[in-house]
Parts: sequence; C-alpha cells; structure tokens
Amino acid sequence: MTASPPSESLAPPPGFRQRALALFPAGSNGEYGIPEDQVPILARGKGPRVWDTGGREYLDFTMAWGSALVGHARPEVVEAAGRQARDGINFAAVNRRSVELAERLQSLSPCLERVRFVASGTEATMLCLRVAQAATGRAKVLKFEGAYHGQHPVGVTSMLNGRPSRMPASDPSGAGAAWVERDVLVAPFNDLATTTQILESHAAELAGVIVEPLHRCLTPAPEFLSGLRAVTARLGMVLVFDEVVTGFRLAPGGAQQYYGVTPDLVAYGKALGGGYPIGAYGGRADLMEVVNEHRLPGPGYAWSASTTGGNPVSCAAALAALEIFCDPQCHPALHTAGRLLRRLLGDALASEGVAGQVLGDGPLAQVAFSPTPVVDQKTWLASDRRRGRAVMLELLRLGVFLNPMGTKLYLSCEHTAADIEEFAARFRQALRATQ
Ligand SMILES: Cc1ncc(COP(=O)(O)O)c(C=O)c1O
Repeated sequence: MTASPPSESLAPPPGFRQRALALFPAGSNGEYGIPEDQVPILARGKGPRVWDTGGREYLDFTMAWGSALVGHARPEVVEAAGRQARDGINFAAVNRRSVELAERLQSLSPCLERVRFVASGTEATMLCLRVAQAATGRAKVLKFEGAYHGQHPVGVTSMLNGRPSRMPASDPSGAGAAWVERDVLVAPFNDLATTTQILESHAAELAGVIVEPLHRCLTPAPEFLSGLRAVTARLGMVLVFDEVVTGFRLAPGGAQQYYGVTPDLVAYGKALGGGYPIGAYGGRADLMEVVNEHRLPGPGYAWSASTTGGNPVSCAAALAALEIFCDPQCHPALHTAGRLLRRLLGDALASEGVAGQVLGDGPLAQVAFSPTPVVDQKTWLASDRRRGRAVMLELLRLGVFLNPMGTKLYLSCEHTAADIEEFAARFRQALRATQ
C-alpha cells in the first residue's frame, strides 16, 4: 500500500520524546516498556500504518492494542463520528445512537438481553464482576492465571508471575491491592478438571468465573469452554466472557458465536468503537436487574453509571464499525490474514532454526520462543521471554510499530497480504539480529 500524504506538516517539534519522558512515567501511557532513547511519539495513522513526529513510517502490528480493527482513520467511522459530533458529543443520557447501537449489539451477541454502556473494557469487566457479586450475594470471583481483564485490581490479579503460583491462591501482580488475595481465586486455563475441583470446593463463596475465551493468544482446548459453562450452571455461578478482544474480531457475534458457548454476562470494548473509546457490558436480564435504579437503595442493588459511556459520538462510530464487521467478506478475510501471518512466522522460525510456537486465532498472533507447546501460563512462563522481547524491540527498530511488553500481534481489516509478507521478512531479520 502506498502511503497517503500527511494531513499536516510532520516537521518534528524539538524534543517531543524528552517532553514525553518528563511528563509520563517511562514516557508511556502504560505498557510498551520501550528504552527511553527509542520511545516513538506518534503523529498520525492511516490504514495499517502510523507515522511518528519525525515523519518515520511504521507498519502497525498492534493497531491501538486491537481497538483499531477497522484500520486507522477508517473513513466510514470518521465520517459517522464527525456527523454526530455536530449534533452533540455527550449527553450522559440514553440517546438515539445508544439505542440503535444497543439494538444492534443485542442482535449480534447471543447472551445480551440487557446492556449498559461504559467508556472502556476495564469498566466493562469490572461491572460484570460487580453484577455477579450483587446478584449472587457472594464475594469471591475466579479468574484464570495469566489473564488480563483491564487495569482494575481484579483484572490484573495473577497476571504477572509475582511469586510461584499456589493456585487457587491469587497474587495481586503489584502493590496496593492486597485485598484481592482474599476475594480472587485463580485456576489454570485449559485445565477443566482442576478448575472444576476448585469451583466445587469454593462453591458457597464464589459469585462467578471470568474468562477470556481466547486466553490472550491461547486457544481453548476442546470442551474447555462448554465444560466451564456446564459446571458454573450446575453450581449456580455466573459465567462472564471477557470479549474485549474477541468481540467482533473472531466473528460478528464474537467468541460466543465462534466457539458456540453462551455465558451469562459479557464485556466488550476495543474494536467495537472503531478506534473511539467505548465499553459495553450486559447479558441475562434477570442478572442485569441489579443495576436497575428503581431498586435503590434496596438490598441487591449495585451502582453502575458512566458519564461518557454511551455518548453518541462513540456509538455512531461503533455503528459504522459494526457495518464493516457485518459485511460477509470481513471475517473470512480477517481469518485468512491471520492464518497467513501465523504460517509465515512459523516458516521463519523453522528456516532460521529457532525453537518457537506461533499462537493465536483469527487476526491475532503471538510467538512463544519455546520448543514445547504453550497452552497455559505455566508453559508460557517457561518460554524464552527475553528472546521474545529482544525480537520485538528489534522489529520496532526495523519500522514495525508494536508493543514489546505485550507481544500479541494485532491485524486489522486493512492489512494486506503484502503488509503481512513485509512484516514476516522483518521478523526473519529480527530473528537473525537477536541470535
Ligand atoms: C482481554 C482484555 N480485557 C479487558 C481489557 C481492558 O480494556 P481497556 O484497556 O479498554 O480498559 C483489555 C485491554 O487490553 C483486554 O485485553
């Protein structure tokens, strides 16, 4: 793809990187962990590419951490949002666009009988857990080791390997939230027998289970999700699918449609907004009753209100994005692109003689430098993550924009086979440079 001309001069204002480092811890808005002398400051994006303030072009393989699935500055989305903005940006109230979007979501999402809009994926998963706790009257929740469900304390619990895993005991993954050790239990992803055992022995205190159906880039073992569905239903626990990543990416109906398993509650974010900030959560009508204000201040009520959630600009952008995702050509193309990426990465590892596994499904990939299959956090942590980071940093130097800390690679609707081949060639170069 040939780059279109920049919309404004990209003459680098002096010292942007230094200014950022003086303002933002590590010079970032979170994650990346890029060495200080290499932090790029982005100025614009178009399709699958971004440009920094110095005018350097990058092939983007993080795509705003997957939120720009439609591609950067996708015209249909930009126009829909701009049109709406002229009629008001936010009312903090139900509006024409939020009703239209809620109806559209209800028609696509198998479990979604009732919905509330929020502004991020973090809020969406946090509210799902709150609803589960309020509806069941139980305090604890279970998540899977290594899962990220957003930046709230439960979302990051046992995400990093702070200390050797003693499942089901959890680890706060950082300071300031020791209380999660009391309220969060952890189980190994893809191990239904151990998970069932933990759930059964804590049934009286567990409100529910939250799972990312495609756990980062680890595919669910056959029967794992359906087994989880069956055991949570049997024990009267709420099953929450975190579809912040998988939603609209694996299929129009997300992982629920793709894997054929319906949870009680679901959290959305990222791709839904076409790049604009959005989050949504919802599910069974009886569970969602706990946030009904007519119950206030009675028992069994849980607070849920977002100032910018459901703003008409983000909703208009999301409606335009859903048009794109519901095109019958969209998901076959995304899956073809993902398969090509994973195949080319696998070929590069094999021909360079590097032991590695290419993980992922749909338009997602992740390389684990390990000679043995990676199926859960334990096997992921056993992989050579130092090599993984070195390769990602080298790719950044070679002009691929990505997040070297979260090495998940995101494709978009706008990545062509040529873009993927270009990436694979640079990946091969990066493997050689980091031997
Ligand atoms: C699976 C998953 N859930 C939730 C979130 C949180 O979304 P946000 O960053 O919009 O708060 C993320 C973000 O990366 C995610 O990957």
